[in-house]
Amino acid sequence: MNELNLAKKLARIAGQMMLASKTQDFDISMKSKNDYVSEVDLAIEKRLKNEILKHYPEDEILGEEYGGTGENGRRWIIDPIDGTTNFVHQIPFYCVSIAFETDGILKAGVIYSPENDEMFFASLDGGAFVNDQKLSVSLKDQLDTTLIATGFVTNKQSISLTKNLELFTTMAAQTRGVRRLGSAALDLAYVAAGRLDAFWEYDLSAWDIAAGKLIVEEAGGKISRIDGDSHHLDSDSILATNFMIHQDFVNALKNGLKTAGIEERESLAEKN
Ligand code: IPD
Ligand code: CA
Ligand code: CA
Repeated sequence: MNELNLAKKLARIAGQMMLASKTQDFDISMKSKNDYVSEVDLAIEKRLKNEILKHYPEDEILGEEYGGTGENGRRWIIDPIDGTTNFVHQIPFYCVSIAFETDGILKAGVIYSPENDEMFFASLDGGAFVNDQKLSVSLKDQLDTTLIATGFVTNKQSISLTKNLELFTTMAAQTRGVRRLGSAALDLAYVAAGRLDAFWEYDLSAWDIAAGKLIVEEAGGKISRIDGDSHHLDSDSILATNFMIHQDFVNALKNGLKTAGIEERESLAEKN
């Protein structure tokens, strides 16, 4: 079985595990304040890891809950449940995200939303799909017609939270609306599907965005950092758009930070 098909098979297994346990009593703990992990997250990641290693025993696996194993040019990047807070509160907006890369190049990405039975997937140069339907980003080219989304870091002391609250206000004024849906992976999948025109967030991790990045790019979208520079999985911000509005979006975010005086405060803090 090739890596994409294996990722799709694993995503279905993860989805079944989520649906089977969502109304059961399960243990929930806090990794840090406001950052939930449930026993379902842990069980899914363990199961997926075991299945991958059965097929590809030498591969490296990076998962949110158990960290990295091994070192190999072939790497799987897994978020067992993206949107755990929604899952725990029985809000049906969560998914599993599985990506596969070789030598740092994303080759396959799968995001499965069990509540809607939607399997978003892409392979490098092979296009992006949801179930059997090909995906394309939206064609909007005016900011004021766009519907966009963001997310907020769980650490309430973080400077990124202050910055993003400013950006939320700025972007809400210039667009049709800003959503905070609670799953970065699904936010990216929705940009790929043209349901959202853009998404941005600070301080995400590789497991939140690896699959979504490839799916957005294969659907014709553009990914960069918030300041417009090129994005890597360990970058401290991500901006995904339908391509058409990318530069306008970068400019609007830059202006938002400038107007709030945040750039100035940051460069002063760097000098001191
Ligand atoms: C979180 C979700 C959320 C985003 C947070 C992530 P988790 O992932 O993607 O939308 O705003 O920054 O940590 O904890 O549910 O896997
Ligand atoms: Ca996540
Ligand atoms: Ca997670």
